[in-house]
Amino acid sequence: MKPRVGSIAHRDLFCKTFIETHLPFEPEGLPWPKLEPRYVDLLRAFPFWSFARSMEQEADRMIATFSKTLADPVIREAVELQGYEEGRHGRLLNHMLERYEIDVPSVPLSNLPVTRDDFVVFGFSECTDSFVGFGGFALARQKQIFPKGLLDIFEHILFEEARHIVFFINWWRYEEALAGNTSAIARTVSALKYHVRAVMHTAQGAQGAAVVPAPLDLTGGGSQAILEGVSPKMFLEIALAEERAMMARIDPRLLRPRIVPFLASAALLGLRMLPPRAETLKRPLAVAS
Ligand SMILES: [Fe+2]
Ligand SMILES: [Fe+2]
Repeated sequence: MKPRVGSIAHRDLFCKTFIETHLPFEPEGLPWPKLEPRYVDLLRAFPFWSFARSMEQEADRMIATFSKTLADPVIREAVELQGYEEGRHGRLLNHMLERYEIDVPSVPLSNLPVTRDDFVVFGFSECTDSFVGFGGFALARQKQIFPKGLLDIFEHILFEEARHIVFFINWWRYEEALAGNTSAIARTVSALKYHVRAVMHTAQGAQGAAVVPAPLDLTGGGSQAILEGVSPKMFLEIALAEERAMMARIDPRLLRPRIVPFLASAALLGLRMLPPRAETLKRPLAVAS
């Protein structure tokens, strides 16, 4: 039975589920495959390692600081664990880059004060980033652009991100319920505003990380190997399918992030309603003539 959002049973469920599904491991101990040079070159061609590593390290610092402000010991333990996992993502990326001798510039970490809003903006940004990550990963797996051993490690990180966004959305709804914010419309508007702030925050961070050596171009290099020949419709379909598969692995009594999958489904519906593109109409005619 699903506990009432905002109840102690709800708090215990989302915190304990998160803690109980944590896997202890160290990045160095994972079964990293030996990569042929062409795979290392492809990894090296991705433009976002520097940004991704600094995002994880920054998240570790921000969440660890935020967790110290939490009065509820059950929530605090879970938030501390999320901070630890983000830090481990940073160490895992670092280990991968060192192991395969991929040199990317370090981005200096900030030492800005941390507010509750930072944690909320980060939580909503993870909802969007994870969805894009699910799509990118599912395409990489479908196209087999990396050996299975490496894809398994990436999948593990993405599942941890799926756990993070489920934990976050339950925490946010729990807090909203405690604050008496029971209007679904007001809550959706608030969540949408946070999503917009999150996208702007990510864009600013990406620009900051791209100061050296060149402007960040997420469509170039390795990303092109994943996205080549993939239409927006195909990307949305595969990302939605992967998102559903990830969410199916998490306790069904917990709330799920809804806004990003909803917007993606709406966009997909719109794309499916568009008339076939001119070139696809022409092609059968050309064959027939
Ligand atoms: Fe992470
Ligand atoms: Fe995360």
